[in-house]
Amino acid sequence: MAVVERRRNPLREGLERPIAAATALVIFGATGDLARRKLLPAVYNLGHEGLLPHGFRLVAVARSELSDDAYRHLFAESVERFSRRRPDQAVLERLLDLTSYESGAFGDDDLYKRLGRRLAELDSDDDLRHNRVFYLATAPAFFAPLVEALGRHGLARAEGAEVRVVVEKPIGRSLAEAEELNARFHAVLDERQIFRIDHYLGKETVQNILALRFANGIFEPFWNRHYVENVQITVTEDLGIEGRAGYYEQSGALRDLVQNHMLQLLALIAMEPPVRFSADPVRDEKAKLLRAVRPPSPQEVGAATVRGQYARGVVEGEEVPGYLEEEGVDPQSRTETFVALRLGVENWRWAGVPFYLRTGKRLARKSTEIALTLRPVPHLALHGEGGGVKQNEIVLSVQPNEGVSIAINAKIPGSRMRTRPVNLEFLYGSAFLSESPEAYERLILDAMLGDATLFTREDEVAAQWAICQPILDAWERSGERPLPYAAGSAGPAQADRILLPGHAWRPL
Ligand code: BG6
Repeated sequence: MAVVERRRNPLREGLERPIAAATALVIFGATGDLARRKLLPAVYNLGHEGLLPHGFRLVAVARSELSDDAYRHLFAESVERFSRRRPDQAVLERLLDLTSYESGAFGDDDLYKRLGRRLAELDSDDDLRHNRVFYLATAPAFFAPLVEALGRHGLARAEGAEVRVVVEKPIGRSLAEAEELNARFHAVLDERQIFRIDHYLGKETVQNILALRFANGIFEPFWNRHYVENVQITVTEDLGIEGRAGYYEQSGALRDLVQNHMLQLLALIAMEPPVRFSADPVRDEKAKLLRAVRPPSPQEVGAATVRGQYARGVVEGEEVPGYLEEEGVDPQSRTETFVALRLGVENWRWAGVPFYLRTGKRLARKSTEIALTLRPVPHLALHGEGGGVKQNEIVLSVQPNEGVSIAINAKIPGSRMRTRPVNLEFLYGSAFLSESPEAYERLILDAMLGDATLFTREDEVAAQWAICQPILDAWERSGERPLPYAAGSAGPAQADRILLPGHAWRPL
């Protein structure tokens, strides 16, 4: 009876379980940070939820000399440590049985010969043809050589099975590098085989942007330049660079967060409705929108962008070092850890509406949100007594308080006409009786299913770079140092400089 009750629970309605065809998931860089923190726990949680296909196999590849058993130990340890739920030993054991390890340097041809043999053995052991998903969780320098090696060794195609390659970010450090990388991929693979990860697209709340906009009628009438005064996209973190100086020194906030995650958020918020919710229709609309984003001209970069770098400060009561004092960072480094910028979208819907983007490390708190501020009402008969009348705001909160809130003005109970802003709120945690999966769970599953809707296509990546490259070039030419801001603060006060008159940053 209890089971029947649970099945009928309306809060669980619509939660579904797509199952992929038999797949061998090959993770290159399988002992690295990404694999241990994200990929292995994600694979475990897919297993826990019964979402791994019949005939699933995991082949881990990395340089270290490890036995299959030693790798299984590392796998179990990563799951114990980083999984969002406590592992069920029976599920974990079963998964470890399906896991094997192959060691070798990515530049060594022999590795691919052994890998090819291993994959053929798995096919004959299971008496079926596994689709192959090669996940490149390696340093970016290996992306192209790895794909080329797969091509040389006949691993980029398989008779009677699909072969897909999942690539992590960054896709290049510049527009030119991204173009070259994509060209090298295309010499071996078709675009439909390439799954470029932007893990923000795997977040439930990011996908909800599309549900909110295109499954409801109430938003569309005001989702345009006539009603929206400005859009703010915020991705702030309280953490520093977490020992990743080697990568971050080559990157900085614009390349690390804006070029990919934030421009994807912008595309989802501003794009036109796709004709279908499938890979190409969705990506066609995003790419079109991204091409409509006009980067500031070289003369405008100074007025439309602000770069910052964190100095020593206090985060959550603890004193933390400044960026220049972090291990591995050049004490003269001009790498930005904060960026604020103003972009315009030159199309019929958005002409004239500023899109403000703000991101940084070591800020007051972690928060990812998109806020649309509506224009004020045309005539205010009320005099703003009480808390006053505020412009309506729609806030899509990606993390940590996953949900959507709409700020409206309401009458304060009492004999006088006084108003105060209040929130209409939808919170994921209370509306659905299920914990959201981690982004990587959804993305690994989609790669196995062959659904590229939540992966970025070549033209999107190019359009994203085309927006960022002129800004990077202008910064490089100016030679200016980023503005210091205290760790734990809201970033440099000069970030206000890019706002148009009457606009304000949302408090952090
Ligand atoms: C990564 C960046 O892509 O995203 C990191 O390289 C950043 O610097 C991270 O911390 C943020 O992701 P999330 O999911 O924690 O918001």
